[in-house]
Amino acid sequence: ITIRRATVEDMVGMQNANLHNLPENYVLKYYMYHVLSWPEASFVATTTDISDSVGDELTIADENGNETKLDPNYVRQGEKLVGYVLAKMNDDPDQQNEAPNGHITSLSVMRTYRRMGIAEKLMRQALFALREVYKAEYVSLHVRQSNRAALHLYRDTLEFEVLSVEKSYYQDGEDAYAMKKVLDLEE
Ligand code: ACO
Repeated sequence: ITIRRATVEDMVGMQNANLHNLPENYVLKYYMYHVLSWPEASFVATTTDISDSVGDELTIADENGNETKLDPNYVRQGEKLVGYVLAKMNDDPDQQNEAPNGHITSLSVMRTYRRMGIAEKLMRQALFALREVYKAEYVSLHVRQSNRAALHLYRDTLEFEVLSVEKSYYQDGEDAYAMKKVLDLEE
């Protein structure tokens, strides 16, 4: 498994992984926005072991209704994307008086590649880049209250703190934990 910075060429693979792993999905343009605005903040995990590359087909429609067929083992140029972290700086104009701070928009790892430390590595790379490149003093994220794996990763492994509960944050009505981690220079 290789962890490297995400590029514009990875965006379809990231969207593919996101659609497989999470109910929170975004238009391709939003992935592009992250990578074009903060090109050093997002990371992907890839493998060149593509021997098992068969799977269900999946369709992604863009805003114009054009459909692209993908599958769980989508391979691009001999590489399969097995995990990603999509990260940004907070650019909310209402929070201009805040110290610079980062945000983890989305993180996921393909099912068969979980429990191998990939998410932790992706997160540590993103936190380091947000701090060192973009001068983030802290980073925030939201997670479903029922998401035990992600909560364990954020709270216990990465030492995020729970700031608050945001009622009905998700479209299906589930509450979110709003979490935050102060970034030390030596992270
Ligand atoms: N139950 C309990 N603990 C778990 C689980 C689990 N199912 N999965 C991982 N962990 C723990 C690990 O034990 C490890 O802890 P340790 O440091 O004490 O050993 C830590 O979390 C990190 O584990 P990784 O192997 O790095 O995590 P993994 O690569 O499996 O990915 C992830 C974790 C991203 C949550 C994965 O399960 C996934 O993709 N889930 C579906 C998508 C999702 O929920 N994404 C997060 C949404 S929140 C957001 O995007 C901001």
